[in-house]
Amino acid sequence: MQDLIATSLKYQQGTLSVLDQHQLPDKEVWLACHSVKSMVDMIKKLQIRGAPLIGIGASLLLGYLAEQGVDENGLREAAATLRAARPTAVNLMNNMDSMLSVLNTQGVGALPKEAERLFHEDIALCDAMASRGAQLIKPNSHILTHCNTGSLATAGVGTAIGVIRAAHDQGKNIHVYVDETRPLLQGGRLTTWEMGKFNIPHTLICDNMAALLMRDGKVDYVLVGADRIAANGDFANKVGTYALAVIAHYHKIPFYVVAPYTTVDPECPEGSMIPIEERDAAEVRGVSGSFGAVRWSPEDTPVFNPAFDVTPAFLVTGWILDNAVYSQDEIHKGVLKRG
Ligand code: MRU
Repeated sequence: MQDLIATSLKYQQGTLSVLDQHQLPDKEVWLACHSVKSMVDMIKKLQIRGAPLIGIGASLLLGYLAEQGVDENGLREAAATLRAARPTAVNLMNNMDSMLSVLNTQGVGALPKEAERLFHEDIALCDAMASRGAQLIKPNSHILTHCNTGSLATAGVGTAIGVIRAAHDQGKNIHVYVDETRPLLQGGRLTTWEMGKFNIPHTLICDNMAALLMRDGKVDYVLVGADRIAANGDFANKVGTYALAVIAHYHKIPFYVVAPYTTVDPECPEGSMIPIEERDAAEVRGVSGSFGAVRWSPEDTPVFNPAFDVTPAFLVTGWILDNAVYSQDEIHKGVLKRG
């Protein structure tokens, strides 16, 4: 494969490496990844994360394994294991299906090129969403966002953060409220890092502060990403997104979901069918990161820890996809359904 460089994933001189998102923002450490086991571990631990990026990372690994001479059966097995590494984000499944379809029709030798194509495609999809979405943002706006949807979650500028970056680059004088995003703090650790890197004015808030900012007229838009969009427009995203959609609806604040077509699951009729990953109780009993691990609840406290929640379509103002911005009416007409 040719050298491929993104903010948090790169293939350079035959080495596939992942920027360890556990150690951000304090340390920028790249980890080499040359086996299915290591990629699956990194995906499960969220060292590589974000719906589009885990799909691209898994595809590059398959491309690399094909170049290393792994045979067709080995590659099929690898794709099946990678496909199951996280259950909610459909991009991983869609990307593995693209790789398998190329394997079926063109053979092992075509996999590296397909992985390269998916990498470049993701960058182009991000650019398309960013330019469509930025047109919707009025100058001097305050935008609230959740989790991390930027260059740490995609091969390109990101989904919701891509729109934010484009609006900022167009000189719209925007300001961003960054939801901390409990339990794993993707907002507090990663989105703040990205906002700082691109000099985008921002303020970090705890998740439970969003409602009062909305009540006080301090939020003009909510922009979030998605891990899977069902055919009826319901979508799964980082837990806490549903609560934001409810309070945005109550306060009549536009709420947009930004995602590439690789996040759409036309086979999934509605949000209740999206599988939701449940994660370890320790993530809620305390917190861990490059600063160490802290537990504040008793060791055996019962915990509920879904990694994602589902937002119903009726709470969404618009779906900013790479090919168009869809309204409620268009979604009802079935534009996301296959065919
Ligand atoms: O568990 P994570 O950190 O992988 O969750 C990420 C999100 O929920 C993002 O909002 C989603 O993947 C869209 S990112 C472009």
